Amino acid sequence: MKIIHTIRELQQFLGKARGELKTIGFVPTMGALHRGHISLVGQSVRDNDITVASIFVNPTQFNDPNDLLKYPRTLDADVQLLEKNGCNYVFAPEVKEMYPEPDTRTFDFSDLERVMEGAHRPGHFNGVAQIVSKLFDAVQPDRAYFGEKDFQQLAIIRAMVRQLKMGVEIVACPIVREPNGLAMSSRNTRLSEEQREKATLISKVLYESKNQKTTQTVDQLKQWIINSINGEPELKVEYVDIVDGSSLQSIRSWDETTYPVTCVAVFCGDVRLIDNMIYN
Ligand code: PAF
Repeated sequence: MKIIHTIRELQQFLGKARGELKTIGFVPTMGALHRGHISLVGQSVRDNDITVASIFVNPTQFNDPNDLLKYPRTLDADVQLLEKNGCNYVFAPEVKEMYPEPDTRTFDFSDLERVMEGAHRPGHFNGVAQIVSKLFDAVQPDRAYFGEKDFQQLAIIRAMVRQLKMGVEIVACPIVREPNGLAMSSRNTRLSEEQREKATLISKVLYESKNQKTTQTVDQLKQWIINSINGEPELKVEYVDIVDGSSLQSIRSWDETTYPVTCVAVFCGDVRLIDNMIYN
């Protein structure tokens, strides 16, 4: 496995592979890798001749400077894990390489970005689109792999690819959970043992909401989820939204969509966790 720090070097290697008609799969990450990321790498290795993973903590997508500062950075361990799992190239640029000058581009994702994460983290998805479009330009992958845990991010990236007419196939991979149900996240490393245990309530409530859905209205179910999670003093719901999985707009009744999804953001202490449940 080769570790590359510049776009120029990356393009030299990948140009050669493309010349040999090899397919390129790409897994963009911010490092602090866990089994969720590794499942994306595994899928890419199965689907493509070559797999490239990037490790870059993108400053433009952090609306909270403290969050950026505290974001876990574990480059050596990440590189080892990628090598063990069949990745061919790791692209780990410095900030200057990706942003030689400030990126002033503004994307418009309309209603898709006005809800949930977009509403609570102003500028976040603009920053995600900035970096992912730059990474796609640098790697020019045939396929790129994203986890369904970041459900709204996936919809935004699909919209970006359509808007910019990029020829990359976006592949969505299911959420990977700890044995106790907690959705895998780089942020989980910031939870204490006790908080990790308490945070499992989020997925327990989401799984149970599948059963509750058969007897409750959308509003009742939403309130039930909020009350159940907030019942644990260590957890504080930021939002619960039940949406159509394509438009991401809130639904008021179950017959509005065949693709209902509940998305939640919850603080466990000062760690912000997101999770979701696709019902059908
Ligand atoms: O999901 C992430 O880890 C990041 O948002 C991404 C897609 C790597 C862009 O920085």
